[in-house]
Amino acid sequence: MKALIIGSGGREHAIFYKIQQELGENNVLITPGNGGTAKYAIKSDLNNFEQIKKIVLENNIDLIICGPEQPLANGIADYFNNDTSLNKKIFIGPTQQAAKLESSKTFAKKFMQKYQIPTANFANFNHTQFEEANIFLNSLTAPYVIKASGLAAGKGVVITNDINEARETISQFFYQNALGEAGKEIVIEEFIDGIEMSAFIATNGKDYVLLPEAKDYKKIGEGDTGLNTGGMGSVSPTNLLNEPLKDKIISKIIHPTLFGLQDMKISFNGFIFFGIIIKNNEPYLLEYNVRLGDPETQVVIPRFKTSFTELCLSIKNENLNKYKIETNQLYHCCITLASKGYPNNYEKNKIIEIKNEKIDSFIFHGGTQLDSHGNIVTSGGRVLYIVGYGDSLRAAQLMAYNDIKKIHFDGIYYRKDIGDDLLNLKNNF
Ligand code: GLY
Repeated sequence: MKALIIGSGGREHAIFYKIQQELGENNVLITPGNGGTAKYAIKSDLNNFEQIKKIVLENNIDLIICGPEQPLANGIADYFNNDTSLNKKIFIGPTQQAAKLESSKTFAKKFMQKYQIPTANFANFNHTQFEEANIFLNSLTAPYVIKASGLAAGKGVVITNDINEARETISQFFYQNALGEAGKEIVIEEFIDGIEMSAFIATNGKDYVLLPEAKDYKKIGEGDTGLNTGGMGSVSPTNLLNEPLKDKIISKIIHPTLFGLQDMKISFNGFIFFGIIIKNNEPYLLEYNVRLGDPETQVVIPRFKTSFTELCLSIKNENLNKYKIETNQLYHCCITLASKGYPNNYEKNKIIEIKNEKIDSFIFHGGTQLDSHGNIVTSGGRVLYIVGYGDSLRAAQLMAYNDIKKIHFDGIYYRKDIGDDLLNLKNNF
């Protein structure tokens, strides 16, 4: 069997690494990949499905796993389903209609409301409704949560205590094109003060396998301060999930989601990410993603003892019920190494040096590429993901932070507190 991973981030590198272990080095390709996967990468534009088709057919690919949301939102799964030379291939990722759970926050919130999935109260507005949005804002108390309805690469959520900043954000989304089309519609929602967790399932829209949970750290600054990013670190397992809470997540969130998909006759082949906030031991759903999380995948994949390839095949073959996931109980802690300036403007093409001493952590690449001299250089905001592991979260953290000392590029930035909140957590949240 030959597989192709679609994407260029750390999530895709982690999936690539695991599938390569399972299928053999020469049976897995990636497009467009990055500096860490360059040997097996084929250049492409992810939204040019003709190019992806050519790669699949020329390389006799059987299994295709789509990592990022944008091609899914643009209909890559539909393209595969509708093309007679591709529709026998095993494509993992949902259709455009199902991808609306992520590509339209308005659709997602209405879906949650319709199927009584616990979530923050909300209202949605389009760019002709600035006044109405303001009236709704006035009815709320701070903090104010403004979300762009469309895909915004982690930059679509603003939480502020200042109502003027909230108004200004809406004005920027509606009138100053801050996020393009993604911001022309917004959701304003009630703020829930709790602790966030990420849950994942692999599903065919009916049956599902629950994957290990994780926590990610979205803010650029220590203590969860500053701008939102694509993710500055992650941890799995967390000490957030006890059995009663897990049961509630399953019965109040996962089951109604699958019921809703069936009720609305929306087919789903792939992974659903549930962004959950826990308050007073009750889970609330903040958002859906229709793919695995980044950087959560970087800590979830190394925990798999069972085959990830088999999991993907089970989605397609409708035998997820028979897949018994086994995971190791080691703690994994991922630290994102970012370019100076990220998530705003940052410089690229900084040479990455990884000292020759032994590194114990997993290293997954994100924004890296090979330059014309064969050096690995920075090419994005989130550059590398260093994943330490051990019998305790502390041991996993220590491994990652110790290994980071052996890595250098100009302007390297990372948070020093990934996982600290979980170490300090009291039982009540
Ligand atoms: N970690 C959140 C995301 O993948 O969007």
